[in-house]
Amino acid sequence: MKPAFVFGTRPEIIKLAPVIREFEKRGIKPLLIHTGQHYDYEMSRIFLEELELNSIDYHLEVGSGTQAEQTGIAMIKIEKVLMKEKPDVTLVQGDTNTVLAGALASVKLKIPVAHVEAGLRSFDRTMPEEINRILADHASEVLFAPTEEAKKNLENEGIREGVYVVGNTIVDAVLQNSEIAERKSDVLDRFNLTPKEYILITAHRAENTDSKENLKKLVEILEALPIKAVYPMHPRTRNRLKEFGLWERVKKIENLIITQPLGYLDFLKLQKNAKIVMTDSGGVQEESIILNVPCLTLRYNTERPETVKAGGNILVGLEKDRALYYVNKLLNNKEFYEKMASAENPFGDGKAGERIVKILLELYERGELKVRS
Ligand code: UD1
Ligand code: UDP
Repeated sequence: MKPAFVFGTRPEIIKLAPVIREFEKRGIKPLLIHTGQHYDYEMSRIFLEELELNSIDYHLEVGSGTQAEQTGIAMIKIEKVLMKEKPDVTLVQGDTNTVLAGALASVKLKIPVAHVEAGLRSFDRTMPEEINRILADHASEVLFAPTEEAKKNLENEGIREGVYVVGNTIVDAVLQNSEIAERKSDVLDRFNLTPKEYILITAHRAENTDSKENLKKLVEILEALPIKAVYPMHPRTRNRLKEFGLWERVKKIENLIITQPLGYLDFLKLQKNAKIVMTDSGGVQEESIILNVPCLTLRYNTERPETVKAGGNILVGLEKDRALYYVNKLLNNKEFYEKMASAENPFGDGKAGERIVKILLELYERGELKVRS
């Protein structure tokens, strides 16, 4: 069997690495196509190096652009590779423009698409990611839902065939890397941080960074934090802060360490040892509950409601009073803290990659891996 992986951003590399490794374990070398949606060293190559994905077959160098530019250019370039290589299946992961481009280019060539992390819904169609998820799911033959809830979302849209609940490959990634991170990373020393005495922050979503009003609200939250905080900053956020004239103000915040985005090992160690995580990232919400660190999500909705139901995640949006209320409660109320920190991980046992590969190989052997007519 000849599987092709299309990916292009940081979270896709992290979450697909366990699946790629499973194929390799079985002697299958998948075709690796990197769109280049993320291209800075610390947004892409560092992960390829750390996760030992050294043999990318195609670097498409799509780069940044408007939604349509990025998706369109990626589609054109992916199509050329798929026409030449004729894989048996195209795997995509998540909800980025790369995913949409990969799924559409593939299914129109009648190459079946397998969507890893299918069925997530924020029910907010103003997010580019929500549109990408819906369209990618509807273009896919094989849908790897991480949870029963994701499967239900697919059922509600009439997608009943080809759906498998396998867990989320982020658990595989965390289990495979957190011990290595603990051993190898010196990130706490580098930033002079004491375990469980700092807050870890990430925020990069378009809805939080593309409007000055919302970005200002984020800055106001950062200014009000009562303990040390560290913020490995996505380039999108850094650019917008500068554009909106907020950069100097953020730099002045005492007790806030702003860094470049970090590699996976550094980031995992930082996350595992954080007292609280505040984020608008999907993957970071998932990792927090896996690592038993309470998470306050800087959004008004989430496509990971399982984390909220399990009790490990609270949606605080960009409301300073609400965010600070929960930060202080976590810092001052031990019982409340312990309850959040002990919430059960809803994303499975870390064997999602193994299940995905096994299912695909079985479908292939039975001659069932094809585009439905
Ligand atoms: C994309 C995904 C988002 C995901 C995130 C992971 C879409 C619609 N969004 O958002 O779901 O959570 O990746 O991190 O696909 N930039 C750089 N260097 C880079 C990459 C980006 O400077 O290596 C800057 C550019 O100014 C670019 C901006 O960041 O315009 C946004 O990048 P883009 O890939 O369009 O979206 P992300 O915000 O990264
Ligand atoms: N991450 C990282 N370094 C950072 C920030 C995040 O390695 O500086 C990892 C994090 O551990 C998680 C993934 O990147 O696995 C999340 O990616 P991101 O927040 O960019 O995207 P999302 O999950 O929101 O799509």
